[in-house]
Amino acid sequence: MFKQVSSEDIEHLTSLVDVSNWHIANQEEFERYTHDHTEDFHFTPDLVLKPNNTEQVASILSYCNHHRIPVTPRGAGTGLSGGALPIYNGIVLSLEKMNRILDIDVQNLQVCVEPGVINEELQQELFKHQLYYPPDPASKGSCFLGGNVAHASGGPKAVKYGTTRDYVLNLEVVLPNGEVIWTGANTLKYSTGYNLTHLLIGSEGTLAVITKIVFKVIALPPFNMLMLASFNAATDACKAVSALFRAGCNPSVCEFVEPIAFELSAQLTGLTFDQKPETKAYLLIEVDGKDLAVLEKDTEEIYEVLDQHHCTDMLLADSEEKKNYFWRLRRSIGEATKRDNIYKEEDTVVPRASLPELYEGVKEIAARYQVRTVCYGHAGDGNLHVNILKDDLSDHFWNHEVKEAIREIFQLCKKLKGTISGEHGIGYVQKEYMPILFPESQLQLMRNIKHAFDPNGILNPGKIWE
Ligand code: LAC
Ligand code: ZN
Repeated sequence: MFKQVSSEDIEHLTSLVDVSNWHIANQEEFERYTHDHTEDFHFTPDLVLKPNNTEQVASILSYCNHHRIPVTPRGAGTGLSGGALPIYNGIVLSLEKMNRILDIDVQNLQVCVEPGVINEELQQELFKHQLYYPPDPASKGSCFLGGNVAHASGGPKAVKYGTTRDYVLNLEVVLPNGEVIWTGANTLKYSTGYNLTHLLIGSEGTLAVITKIVFKVIALPPFNMLMLASFNAATDACKAVSALFRAGCNPSVCEFVEPIAFELSAQLTGLTFDQKPETKAYLLIEVDGKDLAVLEKDTEEIYEVLDQHHCTDMLLADSEEKKNYFWRLRRSIGEATKRDNIYKEEDTVVPRASLPELYEGVKEIAARYQVRTVCYGHAGDGNLHVNILKDDLSDHFWNHEVKEAIREIFQLCKKLKGTISGEHGIGYVQKEYMPILFPESQLQLMRNIKHAFDPNGILNPGKIWE
């Protein structure tokens, strides 16, 4: 299907980037391009290239397209669905050197960035102008904005502010044949034919390589209040979530966390977190806005709803230090779960009011298959991360029975009118489950779109579908 990369290919391709911007096997630094944050997968590319600009990306793609060499675009490698794994070897195209914030347009509340800018670096830069880019994946300290766009990433703030998808106005991309296009316009509205911008958001590097992104940004909400509510029954916490919104509350964060998740996180970070044995779930809730008095009233209203749902404890983070403490605990859960264990991360999402049914269903399936799960996530979005732990399960059980358990979890998502990924993407690890959601005709429609962009199938092959 693909051409084996030859020494002539390597010679030509390395001449297209700066001398220090490539690696071949066994060189120092090479290892980190063989994996991302997905389970324990490793695949070895023939060559890692780190272009500095759009023209270099275009030359690389045009050559690889002509010679049928697979190209796997890569951001920071923090993805959880294997999107950056070079499963057919070939070229890893790392966008790490394209890491400039090109423009902050304070008049129009827009920014233009290269794909290798770290999410939090943009946030910090915007803070100087009292501006705000809300999408904030747990890995915001290291993940790239290009990867965020490629996966339509979310994060805790999505519940009030939306996901990456809601902030992208326009994209400069390189097509597999080397042609460079802008997908849309730098406008807040767009009704100009097929919306290629939104087609490319979440396309996981299978259609084109993103080289510039125009985001909209908003004025920074100056105040926030963060609280942690405890429940003796996880179902009560799940039911409280949709009740909050029905009561007119508009939290900027509404996260669900199981006690085991905080326990693992405390172990990883070294933070002390005392838990009551009877606590079965937490909700981490934030409100934000322009007026502290309003936020205090919002907090009272939230407390009333939570109280009606048998909340046993409510802790207000009354200092920046305490807020950072809670955020560190929350954001470290993924890494903490991984520390001593391999896990499969499922990114289930259902309409918000079906969260209790999803949670109970997941626990019932896990109990039946006798697997341990750590559940947490963006409850306000109906988005529950289900980490299935390998513990001492045999490889056979892990690769067969556990996949059946996942299949059942995803069938439940579909039954509840949800889907199998809210923010992590399909990539390499979830592609076998796509037929649960889509009939063959619909999968074929997606393959036809892929073929229209990438007729030789060189861009991130083996992702989303077989
Ligand atoms: C989180 C990542 C795993 O929410 O999506 O922590
Ligand atoms: Zn998440």
